[in-house]
Amino acid sequence: MILIIHAHPYPQRSRAIRAMLDAVRDLPGIEVHSLYDQYPDFDIDVAAEQAALVRADLVVWLHPMYWYSVPAMLKHWFDVVLLRGWAFGEAGDALHGKFCLWVTTTGGRESSFTETGAHQVPFAEFVAPIRQTAIFCGMEWEPPLVVHGAHAISADEIAAAALAFRERLRAWTPAPQAADDSWRPNDFE
Ligand SMILES: Cc1cc2nc3c(=O)[nH]c(=O)nc-3n(C[C@H](O)[C@H](O)[C@H](O)COP(=O)(O)O)c2cc1C
Repeated sequence: MILIIHAHPYPQRSRAIRAMLDAVRDLPGIEVHSLYDQYPDFDIDVAAEQAALVRADLVVWLHPMYWYSVPAMLKHWFDVVLLRGWAFGEAGDALHGKFCLWVTTTGGRESSFTETGAHQVPFAEFVAPIRQTAIFCGMEWEPPLVVHGAHAISADEIAAAALAFRERLRAWTPAPQAADDSWRPNDFE
């Protein structure tokens, strides 16, 4: 099962994320959790979210980039769902061996993520905390799908991004993993 955790605060105003989500909804084996629709008061059903994660082979985090990170609801989802003793810490192995795909859109063009651009550092620097969240919980990190310049790109480019996302999910199979008997859950010191 592929679990899509979709977090867009203004889904009706979305061009890019909306097109990408619409492109994959009909694929078999997909479950979509639209956090802002399901939890308008931020009262996340932790047990339901964890149960879905247990069923999932691939977890997709799908959202627009907000302030160099995830929208508040997805950060809240990290805080309340990825719990110590479940996702990390002693006996916290529920996500170990699952795969994680980060799919995000940015207002900034790729060229603005440079030393002299508006965002001053390469985009990879903003990937690190998201990637490490997945890895800390024992997940396998898939190459992210990032659509830059989401306001500026044409309708055709949005459609191409949506198709690329669809193809990633349609063709997805778990990469073989080397057995790692030494793996133990991480913990915050
Ligand atoms: C509160 C807020 C914060 C944002 N922060 C960033 C940012 O840090 N970097 C960036 O490139 N774009 C930023 N944006 C632009 C969004 O990423 C952009 O609107 C979105 O990716 C467009 O996708 P959509 O068509 O699905 O809404 C921000 C937008 C808002 C409203």
